[in-house]
Amino acid sequence: MKVTKICCIGAGYVGGPTMAVIAQKCPHIQVTVVDLNEQRIKDWNDPNTDNIPIYEPGLSDVVAEARGRNLFFSTDVEKAIDEAEAIFISVNTPTKTYGKGKGMAADLKYIELCARQIAKVAKSNKIVVEKSTLPVRTAEAIKSILDNTGNGVQFQILSNPEFLAEGTAVTDLLNPDRILIGGDTTPEGYTAINALVDVYANWVSKDKILTTNVWSSELSKLTANAFLAQRISSINAMSELCEKTGADVSEVARAIGMDSRIGSKFLKASVGFGGSCFQKDILNLVYIAKSYGLNEVADYWEQVIIMNDYQKRRFSNKIVQTLYNTVADKKITFLGWAFKKDTNDTRESAAIYVADDLINEQAKISVYDPKVLKNKILSDLDYLDTRKSSENADAVLSFENPYEACEGAHAIAILTEWDEFTKYDWQKIYDSMQKPAFIFDGRNILNAKELKSIGFIYNSIGS
Ligand code: UDX
Ligand code: ADP
Repeated sequence: MKVTKICCIGAGYVGGPTMAVIAQKCPHIQVTVVDLNEQRIKDWNDPNTDNIPIYEPGLSDVVAEARGRNLFFSTDVEKAIDEAEAIFISVNTPTKTYGKGKGMAADLKYIELCARQIAKVAKSNKIVVEKSTLPVRTAEAIKSILDNTGNGVQFQILSNPEFLAEGTAVTDLLNPDRILIGGDTTPEGYTAINALVDVYANWVSKDKILTTNVWSSELSKLTANAFLAQRISSINAMSELCEKTGADVSEVARAIGMDSRIGSKFLKASVGFGGSCFQKDILNLVYIAKSYGLNEVADYWEQVIIMNDYQKRRFSNKIVQTLYNTVADKKITFLGWAFKKDTNDTRESAAIYVADDLINEQAKISVYDPKVLKNKILSDLDYLDTRKSSENADAVLSFENPYEACEGAHAIAILTEWDEFTKYDWQKIYDSMQKPAFIFDGRNILNAKELKSIGFIYNSIGS
């Protein structure tokens, strides 16, 4: 079987970039990305590809090349499902905010809706591909819905988790470490797996395309994210010990990273990891482990989250303590709001939690982020539901110019590692601030020596 038409449900951070690259690399395949969110689709279709709704380096060029040729963005979900041989599900699976498993389990309502819609529309056999990160054994639920509510056609469910990291999505998609495809270990399952292998083989060498059973594939994605997040929590745990002992966490990270068994990546101490995956996936893992009665396994992984929450709180506490135990009515400027550089995504960004703590202490927060829009900052804080929306609006101001954001501030906190922050005229910023002028570098990206010589009181993570 050959895939000639792909439909992707969900035009978000995963679906958008992934489909754009598939379309670019497979001009013979028609790729249609659909979403219920009309504005989002309108933005993807903006004639100027610099205005597409997701910021990723290189993405606008890929979209410019493929859009209108074999890449389409549409709100006509049913038509796209009907026409495609392969349907990717890339909808969001946030942590449940209600009912059983609240705060832990993945909310699968959007997935179920997709499955029901596919079942209703499909009049020919389809391959359904789980692209969103899903708890292990979700494929079983999808299959049951498809088989029981469908029109008698055959469905093959594949798990094909996305390993791209935001901020590097395009290069990750073009040169993946591996592609993972899980499917049924039946002749029909193998046929479906091979059809998807052939799609990726247009630009990825076959030895990097790994095939497994569905459950291994689903669990591998959660495992990969848990291992990566664990490295960050481990180095962050060491960062506090470094601060107490006179060790420097960057030196420690370099020293251990040269051990080939450990490796050098993902050892940057920070104010804490954010993003849509790590916390959600680990909570999922914890929930799944608990549901099988594996309490020790659950506790082990939960500690990664506990450490991350502690690291964020530790950062805000440090700001308060250093500013003479009070930040009431003091202006604190955040440089960065996104959860990492080179993305406009703010989901679970440490900045949100640090701001929330400081607003509780009655600080006034000014924010500058090169890619995050003003209303996003307020809606992120409102989403926490800690206080009235009007109170957040009174406490937080956002700026389009970093120098204006820093004017008159008592302290600057670096929350995202945007490259441009290292290139600022720090003398000019110092001159415009209240004295003593403090910097809390939550990403360890600034030049400590230079800042100290200007007169800043410089604080980093882990030294
Ligand atoms: C992650 C996984 O890397 C990716 O494979 C998976 O598909 C989705 O989840 P993402 O969340 O986009 O990707 O970004 P990632 O680069 O992993 O960073 C996550 C968070 O960890 C960010 O807040 C980042 O700033 C932080 N981080 C990362 C550190 O604090 N220190 C590090 O050394 C690395
Ligand atoms: P991710 O990071 O997983 O891509 P996003 O929230 O960026 O998450 O994107 C998920 C997208 O899926 C959103 O744009 C949302 O509107 C869309 N979506 C959710 N449910 C459905 C559905 N049933 N049909 C179509 N689109 C959906």
